Amino acid sequence: MSIIYNENSRSFKLVAGNSCYILAVVSENYLAHVYYGTALPDDDLTYLLRLDTYPFTPEVNNRDRGVFMDNLPFEYPCYNIGDYREHALSIIDKTGSAACDLRYKSHKIYDGKPAPEGLPATFVNSPDEAQTLEIVMEDKSAGLEVTLIYTAFEKLNAITRSAVVKNVGGENVKLTRVLSAVVEFDTDELDMITLNGSWARERFVERHPIRRGKQLIDSLRGESSHQNNPFTALCEHKTDEDSGKAWGFNFVYSGNFVSEAEVDQHRQTRYLMGINGTDFEWHLAPGEVFTAPEVVMVYSDSGLGQMSRTFHDLYRRHLIRGEYRDKRRPILINNWEATYFDFTAEKLVKIAEQAAALGIEMLVMDDGWFGKRNSDNCSLGDWFVNEDKLAGGLKALVDKVNALGMKFGLWFEPEMISPNSELFRAHPDWAIQTKGRALTLCREQCVLDYSRKEVRDYVYGMIKNILDNANIEYIKWDMNRQLTEVASAALPPERQRELWHRYVLGVYDLMNRLTTDYPHILLENCSGGGARFDPGMLYYSPQIWCSDDTDAIERLKIQAGTSMCYPCSAMGAHVSDCPNHITGRTVPFETRGHVAMVGTFGYELDVTRIPQADRDAIPGQIEEFKKYNHLVRTGDHYRIGNVFEDAEWDAWAFVAKDKSEALFEFVQAVSRPNRRSRRIKMKGLDAGAYYYEESSPDVKLSGAALMECGVIIPNISGDYRSRLMHFIRV
Ligand code: DGJ
Repeated sequence: MSIIYNENSRSFKLVAGNSCYILAVVSENYLAHVYYGTALPDDDLTYLLRLDTYPFTPEVNNRDRGVFMDNLPFEYPCYNIGDYREHALSIIDKTGSAACDLRYKSHKIYDGKPAPEGLPATFVNSPDEAQTLEIVMEDKSAGLEVTLIYTAFEKLNAITRSAVVKNVGGENVKLTRVLSAVVEFDTDELDMITLNGSWARERFVERHPIRRGKQLIDSLRGESSHQNNPFTALCEHKTDEDSGKAWGFNFVYSGNFVSEAEVDQHRQTRYLMGINGTDFEWHLAPGEVFTAPEVVMVYSDSGLGQMSRTFHDLYRRHLIRGEYRDKRRPILINNWEATYFDFTAEKLVKIAEQAAALGIEMLVMDDGWFGKRNSDNCSLGDWFVNEDKLAGGLKALVDKVNALGMKFGLWFEPEMISPNSELFRAHPDWAIQTKGRALTLCREQCVLDYSRKEVRDYVYGMIKNILDNANIEYIKWDMNRQLTEVASAALPPERQRELWHRYVLGVYDLMNRLTTDYPHILLENCSGGGARFDPGMLYYSPQIWCSDDTDAIERLKIQAGTSMCYPCSAMGAHVSDCPNHITGRTVPFETRGHVAMVGTFGYELDVTRIPQADRDAIPGQIEEFKKYNHLVRTGDHYRIGNVFEDAEWDAWAFVAKDKSEALFEFVQAVSRPNRRSRRIKMKGLDAGAYYYEESSPDVKLSGAALMECGVIIPNISGDYRSRLMHFIRV
């Protein structure tokens, strides 16, 4: 049993893998957080709440009820009833009051996991993989019920949380904040780890000790963003890759979010995650419900590496869906960096011919094939083929590519509308905008109002028309600007603030339609690189373009940061031409291949124009990718180097689950003079087994030696060099 209710203590114990989470109903039916950490044999740990010491419960000490309210580790804290720390829920009720007070009403425990309507979420493949606890809380005065939903995965240290708010009264209620998860820590001796960056340098790892007061990362950009990823880990100061405690939180959502830690007057820490309360409102009429998206919580008592591997296992089995979930992805060649907007069907066929001969399996036609688009300043929304560029139409091109034995993939940016487009001229009000204000253009484009069904239907019709007329087997769904002047021509003034969330729901709706109607199409998400690399998107697209920065040395940081919670097998990664278009750096072709092959792998270059030596290397590189891809997709990932702390080198390994083989890669970012070879310690092997490296089968070393003493990496001459090793168990 993963979830146990103890009637005596009125406490719930959720066991997930070797972690456990305990909460309890206390005096006056408040719900308190008791413990989250390593699994313990005890069923009742409510002594930890210290309700027998001052301030006591209101039943005993109603005089100081406020002190109690400001001290109890609330499981789902409400605004304006004496708890002055950050809250999960705030409302405006029929009287205009913001006070809100939730008390336990009932609960149920059942096998399996419910699927929230219209939202992405983790799932079980069979009901015995997890148990779910639903606790109904009520605020009688406001006429609200809030169901807190917890699912504990049986074999993984993973628990998910969400909240459903229902108006059970007879009056309208306005929700002004509905977060998804709150966890209380009885300490402030914690570090906060976040993934931050910008365009072309997404998800760099930042770590700092938490301090008194509030510290947060968030997005108010309408998407999860390049700047802050909806992920946070709290950990002990001493926690490193391989030891120490860590609690990871990841929001299964692709819009505005907040991830916040607050250290209070008693040095307790409250951690909260959910939809950003800034500019959020939701009107609930009697009988209506609002569902807050899911937060995934992962606990590790063996360092950050174990935390990451749990996220990877969870997402690979319980979040990513579709035909490609467990399959090697086709090796693609994308024409973006090869041609940008300057292409014709003829040019693409030439690229495809060369690519096919080298073993590449799919041609992806990126931006610029539709409307009158020869630059990024027009035509978004006009999803019909530009026959000036593609003489004979799309089908003719796709057929030619298919005849070469290659699949064909296509780029769309379905959420956008260019002011210079037929669509905008016909429906200017379909763009998100505030009446009477100038539109803030970004990349000369605006965002379509996806809260409107007719807008989504129209765009879907256009996409469908393309898909039904040619053999498209892959879609790159891009999104290249963030939201501004957020207002909808279709919503009344009092509902304008719902648009942020309605927009995201609209995007999910369209992705759902697309993946349901075209289950064979491989969907790759993208947002100006990796601005929407989040679990919400992973639910619809088994891979996400990691960053527009394809420089292998920059990718060391980007991919290591991304691996904190996302599986490497979902990271869109390509070998591109050099000097790199973003950094101007020239990195050996071999190193570019080694770095890209721990992602989805592909090429983003004009294969007809790269140096002959690089072209000659492609078939071997493809063989190498195919040989090791099963380890990237199904193995355990170990970060061995830490390029954020030592930018001179990086290393990582993928170890088969049964520890029978391991792929080890090393990158020397900077060559140093007069430096001895390095000893780099392997991770994840079977200490008691013997291994040999494939290129020297006579040298057999124990897993213990490889992990305790390491492998020798010579001081390779030159910057940006890499080495690959394949360890096989004897
Ligand atoms: C941004 C993407 O990240 C690129 O890969 C490319 O598709 C461009 N958009 C096209 O406009």
